[in-house]
Amino acid sequence: MKILITGGAGYIGSHTLIELNKAGYDFIVYDNLSNSTDESLKRVEKIINKSIIFEKGDIRDKDALQAVFKKYEIESVIHFAGLKAVGESVAKPLEYYDNNVVGTIRLLEVMKENNCKKIVFSSSATVYGDPATTPIKENFPVGGTTNPYGTSKYMIERILEDVQIGDNEFKIVILRYFNPVGAHESGTIGEDPNGIPNNLMPFISQTAVGKREFLSVFGGDYDTADGTGVRDYIHVVDLADGHVKAINYINAQTQNMEPLIVNLGTGNGYSVIDMVKAFEKASGKKVAYKIVDRRPGDIAKCFADPSFAKEVLGWEANRTIEQMCKDSWNWQSNNPNGYKN
Ligand code: NAD
Ligand code: UFG
Repeated sequence: MKILITGGAGYIGSHTLIELNKAGYDFIVYDNLSNSTDESLKRVEKIINKSIIFEKGDIRDKDALQAVFKKYEIESVIHFAGLKAVGESVAKPLEYYDNNVVGTIRLLEVMKENNCKKIVFSSSATVYGDPATTPIKENFPVGGTTNPYGTSKYMIERILEDVQIGDNEFKIVILRYFNPVGAHESGTIGEDPNGIPNNLMPFISQTAVGKREFLSVFGGDYDTADGTGVRDYIHVVDLADGHVKAINYINAQTQNMEPLIVNLGTGNGYSVIDMVKAFEKASGKKVAYKIVDRRPGDIAKCFADPSFAKEVLGWEANRTIEQMCKDSWNWQSNNPNGYKN
């Protein structure tokens, strides 16, 4: 029996393959390579010393998905596939709803038709919108999203909840990620954004490696200790391990279960300036920055209360901010052009 990993060639998916392999799980990767290349899979093969089954395809292509479910015995799905650029989603809402929401509906239809009813879904802290307080607990209000990307995640969460009500054999875990950063310790796989990075960590590392002149710090007047935005950065390998724990949890359930919603964060908030300083220390490079206007849609503070993940999944993040910066730098400095080396 295998786990289908949609979006498995991407940043979080590729790291998760390694942790799944360590835990003894078999898997198949299904990805349309719209935001990745199969080079990431080749590098994972080297790390795990094993070949990976890869089926190229789109989650919206029902025939292609059906063929994969007919070809392999698929017991569960970890569903990473989706578009994730917040700014782009504002300009291209239909593309985001089609890819993320319609794609997930197609996937769930094919799963149901093949009696595969276990799924772990990649959601995001973005579903909390601008929280009234921090740290954020899973029972905080959701849905106050400010862009189509975030709304697509919220819609999918609601769809998954309804799917489980309609068919209570479905076993669903919804993981709300905070801010994934870092890379595998080998430095051979990591985050490889197309064009100019939207996210902080790849922008910092590209500045340190000389590809960008300076970092624009979006806002210096937030209600935080140093005025810059605070986030809960989590090492991607810790995050990957959270998926192994989620699959273990689902497999251990002998009774029907309501969808389980879990925050994956560290519980620590770091500011943009904290991150710049930590990165400079880890890399030995200077990261030039300028404080500019706030970025529309950004919030001051976002960090998790991760205690439920520990209680229910037995999972907690244990890699430090120093480790996150060191591993990001190791990946960036060894692969200045990402997978295009
Ligand atoms: P990524 O872009 O590196 O990986 C996503 C993968 O999905 C890519 O390989 C892409 O080619 C594939 N894909 C996209 N649309 C597809 C489709 N229609 N059919 C098949 N494959 C498709 O992104 P990531 O950072 O690894 O994120 C993985 C998941 O986690 C996404 O759903 C994302 O929204 C979610 N998430 C990411 C973050 C983050 O900051 N990285 C935060 C919260 C949630
Ligand atoms: N920032 C800068 N300069 C940059 C990029 C970011 O100052 O060039 C700041 C932002 O203003 C924010 C912090 O760095 O304060 C983090 O920004 P990111 O863009 O890296 O991350 P966000 O918290 O905005 O969003 C990320 C993902 C979303 C996800 C969200 C919550 O991009 O997909 O975390 O999980 F929904």
